[in-house]
Formats: sequence, C-alpha cells, structure tokens
Amino acid sequence: MLRKTFWGTAAFASLVLAAPSLAQTIGFSQIGSESGWRAAETTLTHQQAEERGIDLKFADAQQKQENQIKALRSFIAQGVDAILLAPVVATGWESVLEEAKEAEIPVVLLDRTVDAPEDLYLTAVTSDLVHEGNVAGQWLVDAVAGEPCNVVELQGTTGSSPAIDRKAGFEEAIAGHDNVKIIRSQTGDFTRTKGKEVMESFLKAEDGGRNICALYAHNDDMAVGAIQAIKEAGLKPGDDILVVSIDAVPDIFKAMAEGEANATVELTPNMAGPAFDALAAYMTNGTTPPKWIQTESKLYTQEDDPMAVYEQKKGLGY
Ligand code: AHR
Repeated sequence: MLRKTFWGTAAFASLVLAAPSLAQTIGFSQIGSESGWRAAETTLTHQQAEERGIDLKFADAQQKQENQIKALRSFIAQGVDAILLAPVVATGWESVLEEAKEAEIPVVLLDRTVDAPEDLYLTAVTSDLVHEGNVAGQWLVDAVAGEPCNVVELQGTTGSSPAIDRKAGFEEAIAGHDNVKIIRSQTGDFTRTKGKEVMESFLKAEDGGRNICALYAHNDDMAVGAIQAIKEAGLKPGDDILVVSIDAVPDIFKAMAEGEANATVELTPNMAGPAFDALAAYMTNGTTPPKWIQTESKLYTQEDDPMAVYEQKKGLGY
C-alpha cells in the first residue's frame, strides 16, 4: 500500500517513483443521489477509477453527515490510500479529518467545501460556487433590463456550501439593482420533489404566481420540479415566470428547448478526474496540488441550441 507515504517526505518520493503504477484503493464518500448532477458525478467517478485501475470503495451517505463520518472512519480503519469526500454540509468535519491526517491518508474534497483548517485536506476540486450564483444573478439583471422583477429562490441543502455560496453570489449580482428583489427564499434540498412542493407554496402565497417574475433555483433539478408546479398553476414557465438555475443537466436543456427554462450555469460532474490526477502526482513524485482545483462555470441560454446540448449530454450518466 502507498498509504504510509502520504503527507510525506523525500524518502517517500523515491520509494513511490519506483512503483508509480501500483494500484490504489480509494474510498469515496458520496452524499447520495439527490439530483441528476449527483448521479452523473457518481457514474463518472466510477468510470475514472476504472480507467486508472483504482479500486474504488463507494459509500452512499443518503444525505446524512453522520453516515459520511462513519464511512470515513471505516475507510481509515481499512487503511485506504486516499479518500474522496463530497461533504453534504460545510461544518462538523474537523475531528474526522484530523483522524485521517493522523493516519496519513490524504483527503480530497469533491464539489463542495468545508469550514475546516486547510491543512486537514490535500485539495478541493470545486467550481467557484459564489461565481455561479453571480452569473445567474447577472443574467437575470440583464434579462429584465430595469423592469421590476420579484424573484423567488429555491435554495439547496441548508448548511451546504453551494447553498450558502450560490445565494451570496446571486445577492451580490442583484445588489444595486433595486428593480430585482428576492421576495421568498426557502430550501428545496436540491431535489425535484421538494423543488415542486416549495414552488407550489410560493405560487399560492404570491397571487397564484402573478406576483412572481422569476425563479432562481440553486440547481436544475429543483427548477425542473418548479417548472411542473408553474404549469399546473396555469402559467407558462420561461415566459410568465423566468427560470434560471445551475448544473446544466440534460433535462434543463429539454426545458430550455421547449421555452420553459431560460438559463443555466454549467457545473462539470467530472470532479474525480482532476482529483485522481492530483493524487497520482502527489503519490508518484510528491507534488503538492494547490488547495483549490477550480472547475469551469459556463452560462447557457436558449440561444445556445439547447436541443443539441441535450442530445450531447443525455447519455452521460445524469
Ligand atoms: O455540490 C453540487 C451540487 O450538489 C449540485 O449543484 C447539485 O445538483 C447537487 O446536489
């Protein structure tokens, strides 16, 4: 096993250089399967591991932090070479990350960040989550071009870094544009079901939706659920109520092609590729990666041939 050489020294580098292709065992604590994006991340992580000959130990936490902490402890007890962690919430990780560090097992964060000292993990592969919210907010500011616009917001999982940061980024973008106001904001937990449920309550509370100009959803799945609620309320999503969200999953492109959604910000589900590359470099020659490996964020609108993008993306594990 390579485990003992992590966090290591020059002696480790020469030892590992002699056997760079040694198969590794990597534990992956995944949040669950709340969204299409999450499903794609899981599929791609398995694929990327297989391509590299990595023995991936996968643990689905079913949205619970306590399950993730248990999984991490079990990976440590098994003596895995490294751990990938997609943390459901931002806080409460210090003790278990210290245990991993103590056991000299490097931890790579995937797609979300944690509130913990940086020396407790090797690197974080994430997008700029604040920027994503900012891009969504800027799109809306431009789309309404100074007209009054009441926004309802579907937040992601409470306490998760994307929910916190995407909210902050959007608010930053609309600040100073007094015509754009968030009138209601509630969590939809990143799921379609809750997105629909919460949107129904927003519509009810806002004159059947007639008082709502736009929906900002922290992910596409909640937007897709909300679109259904808007249609059932007799309004036209994408027109009566503008829809902007984040992820770029195939279903949102279908909705965009049908004129029922307006814009999405892409988040790549391939977080594992850069994570495995960073780990390989670290293990083979001791190269310490930057603390943040940033993935790209790209805005798509109805002008970007959404049906073609749907066709490209639909077989990719979402
Ligand atoms: O952390 C990334 C977010 O988690 C995705 O935007 C969302 O779909 C998922 O549940």
